[in-house]
Amino acid sequence: MKKNKTEENLLDKVVSLCKRRGFIFPGSEIYGGISGIYDYGPLGVELINNIKQEWRKEMFYRHENIFELDSSILMQRRVWEASGHTSAGFTDPLQECKKCHHRFRADHLSDQEKNKCPDCGGELMAPRKFNLLVETHLGPVKDESSLTYLRGETTQGIYVNYKNVKTSMSAEIPFGIGQIGKAFRNEITPGHFIYRMREFEQMEQQHFVEPAEAEKYFKYWKEERIKWYLELGIKQEKLRFRPHAKDELAHYARNAEDIEYEFPFGWHEIEGIHNRGDWDLSRHSEFSGENLSETDSKTGNKFYPYIIETSAGADRIMLVFLADAYDDSDKKRLVLKLHPKLAPYKAAVFPLLANKPELVTKAQEIFYQLKTSDYNPGPIAWDDRGNIGKRYYSQDEIGTPWCITVDFQSLENDTITIRDRDTMKQERISIKDIENFIKERLK
Ligand code: GAP
Repeated sequence: MKKNKTEENLLDKVVSLCKRRGFIFPGSEIYGGISGIYDYGPLGVELINNIKQEWRKEMFYRHENIFELDSSILMQRRVWEASGHTSAGFTDPLQECKKCHHRFRADHLSDQEKNKCPDCGGELMAPRKFNLLVETHLGPVKDESSLTYLRGETTQGIYVNYKNVKTSMSAEIPFGIGQIGKAFRNEITPGHFIYRMREFEQMEQQHFVEPAEAEKYFKYWKEERIKWYLELGIKQEKLRFRPHAKDELAHYARNAEDIEYEFPFGWHEIEGIHNRGDWDLSRHSEFSGENLSETDSKTGNKFYPYIIETSAGADRIMLVFLADAYDDSDKKRLVLKLHPKLAPYKAAVFPLLANKPELVTKAQEIFYQLKTSDYNPGPIAWDDRGNIGKRYYSQDEIGTPWCITVDFQSLENDTITIRDRDTMKQERISIKDIENFIKERLK
């Protein structure tokens, strides 16, 4: 469906806010940038860490029997042969223009565009398969024998450690292993800001189950994952499932559904739920010689556990949270309505007037009390520039849920005003209750 101008502009507005307020910067910017690579500034680091932490809490604290792993980015090259990534399984169809040599993903071109270059009208070469793995060499000699890859997904590190985790944690099927980490893909057409990157971060969980139970767990994880987005405030009407057609299933998948979000540039995948069958453990058994099969306790038969995978991109999800929270419908102010759990700063503290030392001292006491309290809600901002209205707006656009102002009444009765980002309502509460106020609302 064609987007209207306002919706198209939303991405540009998010990009501009991210640069201006220190969320996201183009990679290697002073050298002219590098396609598909971004750096996270101080507020971006907070936001993405909060997203990752909510995912960790969901997977490893709320669920039982899911173990966290941090496997290495570099693995033996054989891992990628076993997984199917070095062969046709991990390729995109590439078409190149004979005239301007721009490259396109054939599956992203319309039928009309498949013959003519969308940039210069030149003739396009026939599509060829392009492998997405990023190559590197380990050791002093750069030849065929030292070739390996930066991981194309975090998943494979989990499979090669399946036995290690199962044995060391005395785990029994069904159980899960999850991890957050960097992945690298030589994308032909990176784009839409941090939607399609060449270096990005994944949050993946593999659930090892008996084959007969695979579809039950597939349904279970679909529901669990969509709930996570809703609980963190994503608008329901912007989320949907899209089942994969048989001919688009990845080489390992028996069944797959994407969770899609309606971005300013259309509906696109943000997370995949896959039934990977016994592909992974059987292939790694075959290629490594290590037997990763299990024995059915009733029949004594050997089987390879089926794997239900939930695979999300932390950066892509960050774009979802930013786009969903961006609200400039009130002409006077721009508000980033992030869920308070995700907001980079949990609160900001201001003295009403910066030139009244007694107000500044009192506000500083509160600021340091919050920053160093045992209940650490997260980073707290300080601002004493300009007038109070400007300070509120400055915090609104980075999503700070509560602004605390010390005024003359604070000096008399130890109270402050606390202003809510979304309603703009102010409440007067006692200084000793600030911590509880924040704690209650962050629950
Ligand atoms: N282990 C399965 C797997 O990697 P995928 O559909 O290729 O499946 C899973 O990727 C998720 O990783 C995607 O839904 C997306 O959120 C994220 N992702 C994949 N490629 C990405 C890229 N180039 N840039 C940012 N995120 C990406």
